Amino acid sequence: MTTESRTNEEILEAVQDRYGRIAQNFQPELTVIGQSANCCDPDSGADCCGSDLYDVDLSQLPADVTGLSLGCGDPIAIASLEPGQTVLDLGSGGGIDCFLAAERVGPTGHVIGVDMTPAMLEKANRNKAKLGVEHVEFRQGQIEALPVADDSVDVIISNCVINLSPDKTAVFQEAFRVLKPGGRLAVSDMVTRGQFTPQERADMSAWAGCITGAEDVAEMAAWMRDAGFAQVSIQKKGDDTAELADVDPHAGPAEIFSARITAVKP
Ligand SMILES: C[S@@+](CC[C@H](N)C(=O)[O-])C[C@H]1O[C@@H](n2cnc3c(N)ncnc32)[C@H](O)[C@@H]1O
Repeated sequence: MTTESRTNEEILEAVQDRYGRIAQNFQPELTVIGQSANCCDPDSGADCCGSDLYDVDLSQLPADVTGLSLGCGDPIAIASLEPGQTVLDLGSGGGIDCFLAAERVGPTGHVIGVDMTPAMLEKANRNKAKLGVEHVEFRQGQIEALPVADDSVDVIISNCVINLSPDKTAVFQEAFRVLKPGGRLAVSDMVTRGQFTPQERADMSAWAGCITGAEDVAEMAAWMRDAGFAQVSIQKKGDDTAELADVDPHAGPAEIFSARITAVKP
């Protein structure tokens, strides 16, 4: 991926700055009870994820959790979680998917959320205390170098985060390393058909806003297979009739959409 003048460090800094500010400025009283927010930047007028992200009733979760939801889909809906499993959430933000996963794996399971932004981790830990869930923990770290042991996780979930990474091959290699054999990846993320231009990629506001870091589906599938994943599937959210993991790379301008991405570590 070419980002012209931007280094990986500059991208990570821009992303951390944006999500740090969102966490610090968050006002739960502006949240509609039972409705999640999403990753779309309200100032951009975009509505690329749709307004209702989750298939489940969120009214049991406090506004501090649902209002700080910044995803683009519902990874829990494709994760098939079972009691007792260990789940890892890449880029856990305020923790919404970790808390939903915790309900499904139960007290014999374990949920780890990893995020690099201290203000987000602070919100997530406050939310954890408010909900009183002991089997969720939040760790500070980068998804390109996970603070998680080899072969220790049953299911990796993630919601609108991998598009933000400047090194997606490292993310998939790390995901593969920490999954147990037979472990699964269940991800909601922004992807494209086609490529953003280097100039578009250099716009740090659009990158941090989950737009220009998104990658072509064919490239994403190739990186996942290179990392060792099998049964790679990428489908447009709301359309499970077309398998996009097998398409050829597309050279045209980027068309961005929210996708459901799954794979298995053999
Ligand atoms: C768009 S928000 C999504 C948060 C959460 N998954 C959700 O659905 O609400 C992206 C989150 O990922 C974190 N993040 C972005 N890039 C990261 C990276 N390379 N390593 C660790 N965390 C990252 C940000 O700090 C932020 O909390």
